Amino acid sequence: MSQESNGAHAHYAATGILERIRAALAALGPQDRPLTPRELGAMDQFHTRGHAATAELAELAGIGPGDRVLDLGCGIGGPARLIAQSRGCRVTGVDLSEGFVEAARYLSLRTGQQDRVEFHCASALELGFADASFDVVLLQHVAMNIAQRDRLYREIRRLLAPGGRFATYDVLRGRGEPHYPAPWAREAGDSFLLDAASTRQAVEAAGLRVLAWRDDTQAAREWAAQLKAAAAAAPSGPATPGLGVVMGPDFPLLAGNHARNLLEGRVEVLMAVFEAARA
Ligand SMILES: C[S@@+](CC[C@H](N)C(=O)[O-])C[C@H]1O[C@@H](n2cnc3c(N)ncnc32)[C@H](O)[C@@H]1O
Repeated sequence: MSQESNGAHAHYAATGILERIRAALAALGPQDRPLTPRELGAMDQFHTRGHAATAELAELAGIGPGDRVLDLGCGIGGPARLIAQSRGCRVTGVDLSEGFVEAARYLSLRTGQQDRVEFHCASALELGFADASFDVVLLQHVAMNIAQRDRLYREIRRLLAPGGRFATYDVLRGRGEPHYPAPWAREAGDSFLLDAASTRQAVEAAGLRVLAWRDDTQAAREWAAQLKAAAAAAPSGPATPGLGVVMGPDFPLLAGNHARNLLEGRVEVLMAVFEAARA
């Protein structure tokens, strides 16, 4: 396993996550009550602006019912479930964390979507899928865990069918060193942020062309300000199961640092869609 995979693997180790999820979901009703992707939204969308950002990325990428979609670094599968439901497509999720993949499968059974989504444990840098297997590849809040960007974007390009889209939503380097621990890394040595220009250069060098480029930093800052206000009003945390169930009891510290980094301009957020050239 590479240096960054080791760091990300330890950070997202998720020991006992299934038990924590089961216990948290008991608050929503009995085990046999079907859940909707929206009910899980506070817990299973592990990125800035949650549900709304996933829906906007899917719209920007023009995902339709016939598309074969791959979600790289899928976490516990929230974006895959939301996109399968809202866009009528099938989604394959891949994540480095065994615990997250197990949780993704369990939650998809609870939402009754096991026929629409599937999950595999693997590194985004070493995928076994054949060339041109997908029409859309999604990457949401994962790139900052990966130092070998050239290799990552080349692998994404390899997996896309001609005319396929790469849809990315990620945290970028801003001005000044971010505060850690952040939601994606405990310390600076496990964080591999690039700025906007370097990100674009690395993706284009892999043979992908920009279709849409949206600086999402202002929307992220507004979300961060709301998060801070909500935390001040209810210091004991949200009443519904949140990301603390996934990442553990110090998640408010990580989320607080993310909000601070956004508000101080230390990180920025990008939403962009690229196209694989047609042969
Ligand atoms: C911040 S979470 C985002 C999860 C999901 N994309 C979402 O938005 O809900 C980052 C995810 O990337 C995964 N990850 C990090 N490095 C990876 C790699 N090299 N290959 C596959 N997954 C990776 C982590 O295990 C984690 O689930």
